[in-house]
Amino acid sequence: MRLQNKIAIVTGAAKGIGAAIAMRYAEEGARVVATDISTAGAEVVAQIVGNGGEAVFFQADVSKADQVQELIRFTKETYGVPSVLCNNAAINVPGSVVELDEEVWDRTMEVNVKSMFLTSKYCVPEMIEAGGGSVVNMASANSFAAEPRLSAYVASKGAIHMLTKQMALDFAADNVRVNCICPGWVDTAFNDAHADLFGGRDEVLKSISEFQPIGRTIQPIEIANVAVFLAADESSAMTGSAVVVDGGLTSK
Ligand SMILES: NC(=O)c1ccc[n+]([C@@H]2O[C@H](COP(=O)([O-])OP(=O)(O)OC[C@H]3O[C@@H](n4cnc5c(N)ncnc54)[C@H](O)[C@@H]3O)[C@@H](O)[C@H]2O)c1
Repeated sequence: MRLQNKIAIVTGAAKGIGAAIAMRYAEEGARVVATDISTAGAEVVAQIVGNGGEAVFFQADVSKADQVQELIRFTKETYGVPSVLCNNAAINVPGSVVELDEEVWDRTMEVNVKSMFLTSKYCVPEMIEAGGGSVVNMASANSFAAEPRLSAYVASKGAIHMLTKQMALDFAADNVRVNCICPGWVDTAFNDAHADLFGGRDEVLKSISEFQPIGRTIQPIEIANVAVFLAADESSAMTGSAVVVDGGLTSK
């Protein structure tokens, strides 16, 4: 039980990596507020509770300040002050800067980056008052390496990497650690729209060893295990780190 006595918020917890993180956090003893814009998060919570874990679902669009404030208030009332904030929610709409509509650019920055500003803005002061905490931001291999026709998403993930480092400096003395995880290609539907621009998922998968040297997609639980480590006291000296979990993708 590596997260015993921790209270964790996980955003984007309705499916994919966020669902795996919420489940692993609960397995390690955390009380989890699983939040998502989609009500499918309630099913993830039902599964956690069915497995003997403690979790509740809260529906929120994390790009909206009022909904984020409600999320923090709900967490405090339900479990107490959050000790772990895992900022995982994101959208991924492919396209070059010429192809993308301005609205898509703005929405990507709001959901992927501004959401982390908002959750941190309202959560970190509570963590500081309670003696500390751990913020785990979901960045990407795209925080270091770009890809064609993925302009807004790549820019957003680059921003998350540097926001992580910046926040680490501001709150290190307050015992609030801020790290990010940089996954390679993880086996969710998240990349399908981008893959469609290059012949479809199956076609792109054929050449996976050319860009992801382990020669396979990464499983959500392989990211969730790292999210547990960054949330736990085991990583107590780590802040401002970008932990690359990319099957060798950015080593090339
Ligand atoms: N899948 C990959 O290959 C990969 C690679 C690198 C990084 N990542 C990152 O991992 C994270 C999770 O990705 P995934 O593959 O599990 O994607 P996913 O699409 O399966 O899950 C994303 C979740 O975020 C939620 N969400 C979207 N907008 C929201 C909003 N405004 N408010 C609240 N929730 C919202 C969605 O409803 C969904 O449940 C993202 O930050 C993504 O950038 C994924």
